[in-house]
Amino acid sequence: MEVGRLIILEGGEGAGKSTLVKNLEKELSGTGLRVVCTREPGGTPWGEKIRSLLIEKDSNIDHHLSPAAQLLGHYMARFEHLERVILPALSSGKTVISDRFEISSYAYQVYALGDTLLENIFADLHKYVVEQLRPYQCIYFFCDLDPAAGLARVDGRGEKKTIFDEAAIEFHEKVREGMKKAQAHIDSHFTCHTIDASDSEEGMLRQAVNLLR
Ligand SMILES: Nc1ncnc2c1ncn2[C@@H]1O[C@H](COP(=O)(O)OP(=O)(O)OP(=O)(O)O)[C@@H](O)[C@H]1O
Ligand SMILES: [Mg+2]
Repeated sequence: MEVGRLIILEGGEGAGKSTLVKNLEKELSGTGLRVVCTREPGGTPWGEKIRSLLIEKDSNIDHHLSPAAQLLGHYMARFEHLERVILPALSSGKTVISDRFEISSYAYQVYALGDTLLENIFADLHKYVVEQLRPYQCIYFFCDLDPAAGLARVDGRGEKKTIFDEAAIEFHEKVREGMKKAQAHIDSHFTCHTIDASDSEEGMLRQAVNLLR
């Protein structure tokens, strides 16, 4: 039986993560692998409810959840996601492709919005995740793109926006920096690669496929 492998796509708004998930799924399924695509926050019925609380705008509430509350909300959804979707798929030898995972939590909640106390909480939560994923190969692809270009792509897409899509450009620049710095806070069990997301859709797929070889 094939060995389960977790592939995670990270990057800022509009970097092309969801597009690459679809393209990678097609490519890897074509080689005979059994592929499960999922996303964070979300991926389970509880996770999708938590996703709405975390990233959709609520016109009745004039402020967002605090960074610490957001971080714990993301991990609440993540532990459910791990237990019900990711680990069962990996243990049956499937390839799991997740649209965002822990690097997003680090970049948004800890680095861009939070403080050093949250770094410690992140480190503890991360340990718990790593121990559960220890038997499986785990790979991060950081889709790196100038935030202005990413936001222009999001505008062109015409989908419902999240609480972060309309944040100032400085915020998105900090998130990009946080995604780079996150790699130093992620256990070496995870392999981290950067994909140049200014490339075409096809080019991003080729970069990812070459890195998987
Ligand atoms: N490499 C690319 N070059 C140009 N446009 C792209 C590329 N990849 C995706 N797009 C387009 O850019 C838009 C955003 O792509 P996508 O939804 O995949 O980004 P995302 O990273 O998932 O964004 P979000 O953070 O909002 O979920 C889409 O309209 C998509 O078709
Ligand atoms: Mg997306």
